[in-house]
Amino acid sequence: SMTTIAVIVGSLRKASINRKLAKALVRLAPADVVFDWVEIGDLPLYNQDDDEAQAASVQRVKAQIAHADGLLIVTPEHNRTIPAALKNVLDHGSRPYGKNVWAGKAAGVLGTSPGGIGTALAQQHLRGVLAALGVRVLPQPDAYLQYREGMVTEDGEIGEASREFLQKWLNGALAWVTKGL
Ligand code: FNR
Repeated sequence: SMTTIAVIVGSLRKASINRKLAKALVRLAPADVVFDWVEIGDLPLYNQDDDEAQAASVQRVKAQIAHADGLLIVTPEHNRTIPAALKNVLDHGSRPYGKNVWAGKAAGVLGTSPGGIGTALAQQHLRGVLAALGVRVLPQPDAYLQYREGMVTEDGEIGEASREFLQKWLNGALAWVTKGL
């Protein structure tokens, strides 16, 4: 049977290396996995006043999350934490109180940056937020990826140097999402 994974990229920019990485990564998945891309750039800033009348974009995203068997979150690090746009969608999905769409989901988290820590601090913060939302995150292996030329090829494939690691990571994340380990 098909498995649906909702993919969230924490960057809004067109040339995002994290989006590029996410697109290449999903190509390593078996054919029975469907990836549903969750676009977060048109969400309003979360405001509790709107809880009883959530915007159409918020409802769209919440429906995608509700429908997914699991989550793949690929995010940059902004000033040593997760980007505001990512926190925004996490907050939207958690409300109104009692209607937290994240609860009980399983996720794999990874990210890349040109810097040496490869989004490690953002991912640590993200794990804390996801714990608060009731999301089970793949514990290991960590995927703090320092972005280098060729990590994603011109053809949009994962480059040679990262392929074995990311194939194993993805296999582990899919197993975690579908069965728990
Ligand atoms: C960054 N960048 C960055 N990198 C990092 O490793 N740690 C950090 O704390 C930050 N902080 C940061 C803040 C802001 C506002 C920007 C715009 C950038 C650099 C970042 O890793 C780089 O711009 C990546 O290309 C961002 O990922 P996307 O958008 O290409 O996916």
